[in-house]
This record gives sequence, C-alpha cells and structure tokens, in this order.
Amino acid sequence: MQGEFGPLVEGSSIRYSQKTMSDMNDQEQAISKAAGVVRSARRLAALTGAGISAESGLQTFRGAGGLWEGHRVEEVATPHAFRRDPAFVWRFYNLRRANLAKVAPNPGHQALVHLEERWGADAFTLVTQNVDGLHFAAGSQNVLEIHGTLRRVRCSGCDRTEDRGVEALPDLPRCEACGELLRPDVVWFQESLPPGIWERAERAVSEADCLLVVGTSAVVYPAAGLIDVARWHGATVVEVNSEPTGAAVDVVLRGPAGRLLPELVRRL
Ligand code: OAD
Repeated sequence: MQGEFGPLVEGSSIRYSQKTMSDMNDQEQAISKAAGVVRSARRLAALTGAGISAESGLQTFRGAGGLWEGHRVEEVATPHAFRRDPAFVWRFYNLRRANLAKVAPNPGHQALVHLEERWGADAFTLVTQNVDGLHFAAGSQNVLEIHGTLRRVRCSGCDRTEDRGVEALPDLPRCEACGELLRPDVVWFQESLPPGIWERAERAVSEADCLLVVGTSAVVYPAAGLIDVARWHGATVVEVNSEPTGAAVDVVLRGPAGRLLPELVRRL
C-alpha cells in the first residue's frame, strides 16, 4: 500500500506514526501557504544568516556552542580584542578565509538567485548577515552584506578598503598605502554597521510584501530588528530554519534551507 507520504507496507517496519503524519500535514500546509504568500508578493526581501551556508560546510555561530579555540566569538570579533592581540584575531579570520576557498554555494543560495531573476533586482533585495560572500558567488546581485565581508580588508589607519578574495594573508597584514595594520572589513560586536547600508536594508524590508527569514537565530541586533520593521509595514514573514527560534513570524518552514527553498521555488 502506498501511503499519502510514502510507503506504508503491511507488516514492515516502515510506518509513519500518527504524529509524523500530522507533522507532514503541517509542513505541507506551511509550504503551500508560504508559496501563496511569495507568489502574490509584488516586492520581496530576504534576510539570511549563517544557517543558509551550513549545507555548504560552514559552521554557524551558535552551533557547536559558538566557540573557537575555547573562546566565545563575541570575545574574538571585537575592536577591543583586535587592539589587545591583533595576531590572535587575524588567526581566527585567516582560518575562516581559508575555509571559504573550500566551499561553494548550495541549492538554498541558488533558490534565492532564482527569486531575484524572477522578481527582478529592483523588486527583490537580499539582506545578509553572512560575511562568506556565497550569495554573490551563487549569482545574486542585489545583496546587502550588512556585516561586511571576509573577502575585503580595511586599513585600521587610513580606512582604505581592498578586495583580497580568499588569498592567504600574513598573520599581521599591513596597508600598502600607510603601513598601518589591516583588519577584515567585517562588522565586529560593539561596532556600527557600514554607513548607509542599514537605511537601504530597512527600506527594502519596509517596502516588501513578504520577507523570507532564512537560517538565522534572529538574536543579533540590529539585523534581527528587520523582522519587526517588515511586519510593522505589513509584510508577511516566512521563516526557514532547521530549529525553532524566538522570532515573531507568520509562517514557519522547519527544515534545511537547501531543501526547503528550492521546494518553495518549485511551487511558485
Ligand atoms: P547563528 O549561528 O546564530 O544561527 C544560525 C541559525 O541557522 C540557527 O537558528 C540554526 O537553527 C539555523 N540553521 C542551521 N543549519 C540550517 C540549515 N541547514 N537550514 C536552515 N537553518 C539552519 O547565525 P546568525 O543568526 O547568522 O554577527 O548570527 C547572526 C550574527 O551573529 C552573525 O552575523 C554574526 C554573529 O555573531 C557578527 O559577526 C556581527
């Protein structure tokens, strides 16, 4: 006998429990609802976090306790840590830069490229907290990297920025123009977002009819505040996350973004 959701073979051990069946029904309803919301949106926005890159092989921040060599990320990614021990901070970032050379965008990133192609870059804005550059690598164009990018460096003296891709950098890289220490061009804890980018992100989500919130724990502000901005302006918020979060959203798609986003796109 073929059950609605797969094989239900009499006497076999492959049986879905009542609970699993009702979970599947809920999921089916949620994805249909999300597809309807996205389909009817004139303008779309997405807010992504580390979870969308998890299936590319990059660790999330709060996964594995969010520790690096026994230190909380919040202790490494700060201006204070860089002043105290720049080599230590660069070691952390050089490892992360080296990891980028080994990873590629996954179907979750690609599904968002598809949405941009379908809606047009004027009507689809992708706001990301990720510094891995995988949205651009996938082909998305209207991307606001609100926490900066690991692929760029910035001089801590003269503020000059330079794209260095994933090339290996020395432990203490220096600015060719002024000789001061370079730093990764990312936003650290206790720092403000790059000028202008927040206003663009806020505008995009406030104009959107639907905001997709993908792979973020939604606990780091101001980024997480974009969800409230969107709802305040009447957008329907669809969350795609493998785990529950505390975010106030309208539709929840529970599972890996690399599977659910392509499935959502297929149903449009
Ligand atoms: P987190 O590590 O806090 O959260 C990752 C989220 O992704 C969690 O909610 C997971 O459940 C979810 N997740 C994991 N794998 C997934 C998958 N395959 N599909 C869907 N969801 C999945 O990362 P962020 O929310 O991005 O800031 O963290 C926000 C900010 O905190 C970062 O940008 C960074 C960090 O400290 C700065 O560095 C300024």
